[in-house]
Amino acid sequence: MDKKFILLLVSFLSSSTALDNGLALTPPMGWLTWQRFRCIIDCNTRPNECISERLILRTADLMVSEGYLDAGYDYIGIDDCWSEFERDENQRLVANKERFPNGMKYVADYVHSKGLKFGIYGDYGTLTCGGYPGTLDYMEIDAETFGDWGVDYVKLDGCYVELELMDEGYPKFGELLNNTGRPMLYSCSWPVYQELSGITPNWDSIIKNCNMWRNYYDIQDSWYSVEYIMNYFGENSRRLATYAGPGHWNDPDMLIIGNFGLSYDQSKSHMAVWAILAAPLLISTDLEVITDQAKELLLNKDLIAINQDPLARAGIRVFKKSDIALWKREITPVLNNTTSVALAFVNHDDSGAPKFGNYTFKEMEIDTTYYYDVEFLLLSPTQSIRVHQDHINDINYIEVLVNPTGVAMLKLKPTQIVNTASIYKT
Ligand SMILES: *[C@@H]1O[C@H](CO)[C@@H](O)[C@H](O)[C@H]1NC(C)=O
Ligand SMILES: *[C@@H]1O[C@H](CO)[C@@H](O)[C@H](O)[C@H]1NC(C)=O
Repeated sequence: MDKKFILLLVSFLSSSTALDNGLALTPPMGWLTWQRFRCIIDCNTRPNECISERLILRTADLMVSEGYLDAGYDYIGIDDCWSEFERDENQRLVANKERFPNGMKYVADYVHSKGLKFGIYGDYGTLTCGGYPGTLDYMEIDAETFGDWGVDYVKLDGCYVELELMDEGYPKFGELLNNTGRPMLYSCSWPVYQELSGITPNWDSIIKNCNMWRNYYDIQDSWYSVEYIMNYFGENSRRLATYAGPGHWNDPDMLIIGNFGLSYDQSKSHMAVWAILAAPLLISTDLEVITDQAKELLLNKDLIAINQDPLARAGIRVFKKSDIALWKREITPVLNNTTSVALAFVNHDDSGAPKFGNYTFKEMEIDTTYYYDVEFLLLSPTQSIRVHQDHINDINYIEVLVNPTGVAMLKLKPTQIVNTASIYKT
């Protein structure tokens, strides 16, 4: 098949099976209020933290001045708890008048003036999870309102609604968003509510109607929570990876890097696995007080490049053996038909002392058609990686030493046909 035909085929496939609003061709990147700022609404005692115009404007400023936008984080989104408890006389949602004194359009305009895109939250049910007005009986009005305000990203949660309605309601709201004529990234919470209740989601429809969707429980500010989500995605990754692609992504939830619950090593593991999973990268931390270390990690170009890789294939957990999990993603460049791969060895053993592992290419499911150039990422002084390649004698393996709850990471790039003696790299 020539390239043109393949391209045609790809665009035909994506137009017939996936949401075609031109958005989220790679995983969305941005900042979202929920994980760090929750439903803090008392601006008198917590003026810098409450869900308010002030929080969004100061964060938008920092996203630009501190290099987040340049790194690719271009959405800034408000989660729950932004509205009044009552709709207005035209049944429209209204931003809380004390916390958003200039209204929501003003906030969206400010965000746009900074070169950022604006996200907002709604809930498909009668109420949002935080008890604010839901969209159930107001779908058309709410889609129009979001469009009028200049919203670029809508997260539609799924509290206070029957799970059986979702199969109709989520596509319907997507259609209404589309009818506004304004491209709005559509983030659905549809499958998580169903899957956690033992209902098998209609994946064909989800992929066709949503740009991204939550699969599992909300992330909390702890390594326990990050591991819990990693384990779920790990156990299901070969299935989940098939749902992901340009315009449609699994969402393991926000990044908690920069907050209170993770060590530096754990933060690296979090970022590495989210990159491999092709997860949306949604920072939820206070950018004003973030440490340099956390900031550098969020801005890490190599990890972002893996997350945003143009092959757009979500990675998988290949195995978890003796507490070391191997995560792998196929990335560019591709040599003939052999992709490069990003590998992340996450050590789930927290007993102490870096842990040793030794794995053959075969058990890591790495193609041995070529030799690979090796690039190490995130390596700290107490860790090491050795890559042994000897295709002649068929002895190919990687040795790793990984910090407790940390990650050792590398990229392998195919270079050379197998015809020479061994390459040994430390
Ligand atoms: C609406 O849907 C059509 C058909 O899928 C698509 O071509 C168009 O870009 C969408 N428009 C918006 C604003 O999302
Ligand atoms: C290239 O790789 C893909 C995915 O692994 C495979 O389906 C296909 O058959 C391969 N094509 C060739 C020409 O080897």
